[in-house]
Amino acid sequence: MIEIKNITQAYGRNKVLDDVSFAIHDSAVTALIGANGAGKSTLLGVITRLIPYISGEVYIDEHEIKSMKTKEVAKKVAILKQTHHLGVRVAVQDLVEFGRFPHCGGRLMDIDRQKVEESISFMDLDNIRDRYIDELSGGQRQRAFIAMILAQDTPYIFLDEPLNNLDIRYSVEMMKIVRSLVQDLHKTVIVVLHDINFAAAYADYVVTMQDGKIVSHGKVDEIITKNKLDGIFDYDFNIIEHQGRKVCLYFDSNEKDSLA
Ligand SMILES: Nc1ncnc2c1ncn2[C@@H]1O[C@H](COP(=O)(O)OP(=O)(O)O)[C@@H](O)[C@H]1O
Ligand SMILES: [Mg+2]
Repeated sequence: MIEIKNITQAYGRNKVLDDVSFAIHDSAVTALIGANGAGKSTLLGVITRLIPYISGEVYIDEHEIKSMKTKEVAKKVAILKQTHHLGVRVAVQDLVEFGRFPHCGGRLMDIDRQKVEESISFMDLDNIRDRYIDELSGGQRQRAFIAMILAQDTPYIFLDEPLNNLDIRYSVEMMKIVRSLVQDLHKTVIVVLHDINFAAAYADYVVTMQDGKIVSHGKVDEIITKNKLDGIFDYDFNIIEHQGRKVCLYFDSNEKDSLA
């Protein structure tokens, strides 16, 4: 289990995380939602120890992350950052092999090769394993990055806006992959999403953030309500139910009249 206790982080006078506390549910998908600048990426960075924090504690399986070695952290948590620039030209297979670095330090053993093969196969990348990352479609590239994360073989996976630049079909495919990480591989996944409907349809739990604070945390049905969302996004939502699922309508219901 991952527990975050009273985490505060600031840049100069700007408090970006303000006394954040919550526990992440194991073997579930938790969607983290909130407006731009709410502190979502910073929170993920803190939990994965990429970003320092001023006060508070983060426990991964009861170990405070400041007391853990970098390698140990990398065996527990993997993160797909919001923007990932590689800087070098790599093929899919090389990228996936990078995921084994915390385990083998760059010298692949049999177990590492096996994990790489499993990840390539799970993400259906076999026939494009030799292609360069920069030559792939957005959806294929994102699958390759997820395969790298899978090869890292961590129980906890953090995905920061994995649907960025993906069209609807690839977005749905990505969310199905996220679900299968939990259902088939028993991972714990935290995913930052902008589309509330993807959160409503594919997450088990939702955490909402505003101005560096956690505002609410609960099951999808408890959080995807007009009452809770309007304040978070400073917007007048219209939420309907379709086939037992909540659906958020983003358009302004008066818009048609005013444009006519
Ligand atoms: N390295 C940094 N230096 C200064 N301010 C930062 C830095 N990173 C993030 N911030 C600020 O922290 C706030 C939260 O950012 P971020 O965590 O990226 O939010 P989100 O991911 O929810 O959009 C923003 O106001 C942003 O400008
Ligand atoms: Mg962000």
